[in-house]
Amino acid sequence: MRGAQAAAVVAALALLAGLASADEHNHRYQVGDVVTLWVNKVGPYNNPQETYNYYLLPFCKPKPADKTRHKWGGLGEVLQGNELIDSQLELKFRTDMPKRDICTMNLDDDKVEDFTEAVRRHYWYEFFADELPIWGFVGPPPEQTKGDSNVYIYTHKTFDIAYNGDRVIHINLTSESPQPLTSGASLTFTYQVQWKAVSIPFVRRFERYLDFNFFEHQIHWFSIFNSFMMVIFLTGLVSMILLRTLRKDYARYTARDAEDLESLERDMNEESGWKLVHGDVFRPPKYLEVLAALIGTGVQLALLVLSVILITIAGTLFVERGTIVTVFIICYALTSFVGGYVSGGFYARNEGKNWIQTMLVTACLFPLSCFSIAFVLNTIAIFYQSLAAVPFGSIVIVLLIWMFISFPLCLFGTVVGRNWAGAPDHPCRVKRIPSPIPDKKWYLRPHIIALVGGLLPFGSIFIEMYFIFTSFWNYKVYYVYGFFLLVFLILLIVTVCVTIVGTYFLLNAENYHWHWTAFSAGASTSLYVMLYSVHYFVMKTKMTGFFQTAFYFGYTLMFCLGLSIMCGAIGYLGSLAFVRRIFRNVKVD
Ligand SMILES: *[C@@H]1O[C@H](CO)[C@@H](O)[C@H](O)[C@H]1NC(C)=O
Repeated sequence: MRGAQAAAVVAALALLAGLASADEHNHRYQVGDVVTLWVNKVGPYNNPQETYNYYLLPFCKPKPADKTRHKWGGLGEVLQGNELIDSQLELKFRTDMPKRDICTMNLDDDKVEDFTEAVRRHYWYEFFADELPIWGFVGPPPEQTKGDSNVYIYTHKTFDIAYNGDRVIHINLTSESPQPLTSGASLTFTYQVQWKAVSIPFVRRFERYLDFNFFEHQIHWFSIFNSFMMVIFLTGLVSMILLRTLRKDYARYTARDAEDLESLERDMNEESGWKLVHGDVFRPPKYLEVLAALIGTGVQLALLVLSVILITIAGTLFVERGTIVTVFIICYALTSFVGGYVSGGFYARNEGKNWIQTMLVTACLFPLSCFSIAFVLNTIAIFYQSLAAVPFGSIVIVLLIWMFISFPLCLFGTVVGRNWAGAPDHPCRVKRIPSPIPDKKWYLRPHIIALVGGLLPFGSIFIEMYFIFTSFWNYKVYYVYGFFLLVFLILLIVTVCVTIVGTYFLLNAENYHWHWTAFSAGASTSLYVMLYSVHYFVMKTKMTGFFQTAFYFGYTLMFCLGLSIMCGAIGYLGSLAFVRRIFRNVKVD
């Protein structure tokens, strides 16, 4: 029974990941076998998300228009705005084909207008054959044909396909014979196919799409080295603080004579530092429900990112369209247990009573925020008739995954967390009456500490941000997940160290409102990422139009939201461990 259930789940997941679609998946062909050429999307080159169905432009359509074959490539693929349609252009394995007509069309005013707009805006299109992407431009850019009032469109395509044994290795598409777009003219679109044997092994065929010079540039190594130095410096700083704060406690243990103890006591009273707040430091934070939910979600996200990176490295998933998104969604659903566990345990330890409400906030907070942003973007995409609009069915699948996997796991996690990790265990008792907080220097105010806190973590990742942004917005395949893993770990360490230092300063200023300060000190990293993304948008991309701008900032917002929750939670937990450690030996009368 259980086995059958497990098998069903695995089958469902395989279907989601698109593993179930057969024949193209073993990538082996006999001479003369059909290699399906799929058309995917078309759109302005500078706006990577502004994509349309290939046949939205008046290209030659496959003959029986009602029987077009679609390919279900998995959830991730659909969410990324792909829709593969069989072009019905004949492509036979290792069979050269001389020039052949696709169709002849009479250009009326509408078609001329559509094509002209497409060429003017540098429309390019994407095909797939044997899972290999093929790109081409609709027409030569108008700058190339300066001094000519006509706009041209390519009418001939040559597919040069390299094969090795029974495998397709790579495909070159050459667009030729540009013809002027004039109303009333008749254009004949043609294509031809040439096969060529090469000795490149199948396993290395994807290397062609990887930009080694870009990703393995010196600067990338240098930035890692730099961040590493920062880690060493910060961990040094934190150890020093720990030594300083704990030294006296150890001294107390070794101090045998009473005088020594007395002088120590005096020492402690003179010190107007963190020890004075022992009666308040474990006072439950304001908005405990929200903090618990954020911390649960943050830990979940950290674990999620870690697992996605490891799975991607293990399976070289970047070669397959959309798989990473699918893995991400499934891992999110599965890690919901951890989110619930951490949030439920934390909430119970702080003696919160509304645990159901907290669980609901934990389960909904991040998905709902992302869903709202995605909803707005989707509405825009539908309005523009773009392929980026997610079809209704896929939305339902995502909702079902959330409802039947993520939510129950979060609930279960909360219950387990409350029972196993929910006993209050603060090292110091909380005083009944809160102490007043002395007015201190401006730079020791919580919001300044919170704001400054994000600077160093941001500094440790911003070069990587450049690489990630460039792969996402400028058509580069991101494949250096080893770097990613390193930077991710560095980010976590730096965030923890910085928030610990911030918390230490705050407590020394006798301000015990450290909970939200620690969280915000980590979370403010994403504020700087947001600012950086504005810089990147203005300086490094040529995006135009409302559609692409909305998508750029919508996606960035989702990313920053996740980043802030994750960094905030990790920073907070680091500080919590620190605070518990330093107050453990404080003797209260
Ligand atoms: C495709 O283009 C590349 C680079 O221009 C070339 O090295 C390769 O031989 C071409 N392949 C075929 C099958 O023509």
